[in-house]
Amino acid sequence: MTALVYTIASGKGGTGKTTTTLNLGTALAQLGRKTLILDADLGMANLGLLLGLEKCKITLHDVLCGNAKLEEAIYDGPAGLKVVPSGLSLIGSQNSDPEKLKEVMSTIIEGMDFILIDAPAGISMDGVIPLAVADKVILVVNPELSSMADAMKTKAMTEMLGGSVEGIILNRAELERTEISSNKISELLGAKILEIIPEDANVRRSAAFKVPIVIRAPKSPASIAFCRLAALLSGETLKNNGAKFEKESFIDRLARAIFGG
Ligand SMILES: Nc1ncnc2c1ncn2[C@@H]1O[C@H](COP(=O)(O)OP(=O)(O)OP(=O)(O)O)[C@@H](O)[C@H]1O
Ligand SMILES: [Mg+2]
Repeated sequence: MTALVYTIASGKGGTGKTTTTLNLGTALAQLGRKTLILDADLGMANLGLLLGLEKCKITLHDVLCGNAKLEEAIYDGPAGLKVVPSGLSLIGSQNSDPEKLKEVMSTIIEGMDFILIDAPAGISMDGVIPLAVADKVILVVNPELSSMADAMKTKAMTEMLGGSVEGIILNRAELERTEISSNKISELLGAKILEIIPEDANVRRSAAFKVPIVIRAPKSPASIAFCRLAALLSGETLKNNGAKFEKESFIDRLARAIFGG
């Protein structure tokens, strides 16, 4: 069995790549899929921070420097998720050879169902290699012009490298405007919208608690969207168009506001 490798990219910084990698990865693991997420943002590693893994001694940096084996840099995340963080040190990132990523990938794809690669912003060497090693690239786009322009470049770069884009995640969408803009975004980028993730204050709250939102606030709007996306990618049929991820009731919302979680 070989894993399907998705690179989560955007071109522009801050669109929600790391948030998506973490929560989509956790949601896939919750569905019982063997999933590994890997932080390819070698310079500005954030994925480990969102899970409290910042003290891990061996990271992807050590692997890409040739100082450690990949197995030594794989850590347990929530719901059976496997995580390969990058290190926080600047020197470590400078010594890492991003070109080694391809070789590294070939050692982990056996035995996994999904590998999600959190790409850095930009299309420098670090940014381009994750596009090249993926089976499919998923673009995280915010509903704004600069994000779309950068996503367009990322798509073009992916295609130049012989890869292809699976689709778009429209993140931080304001619900009342998404109907028109999501069609436009899809048309402009020439790719389908896989899911719309709404702006949701629980995303930041969960990050502060170092727990993925799909675990900490599973009924919040962004969690429901991440879980629906995981079901789509893993071919799960959702009963009642997502009954499993039913809408949060007023009482649930109130309880969460009072007690957290
Ligand atoms: N749907 C959302 N609702 C509210 N806040 C969000 C949402 N998605 C992401 N954010 C917030 O936006 C910020 C940027 O998100 P994130 O770090 O995932 O982006 P990124 O694309 O990985 O950034 P970078 O390019 O710097 O790596 C974070 O503070 C995150 O909590
Ligand atoms: Mg990031």
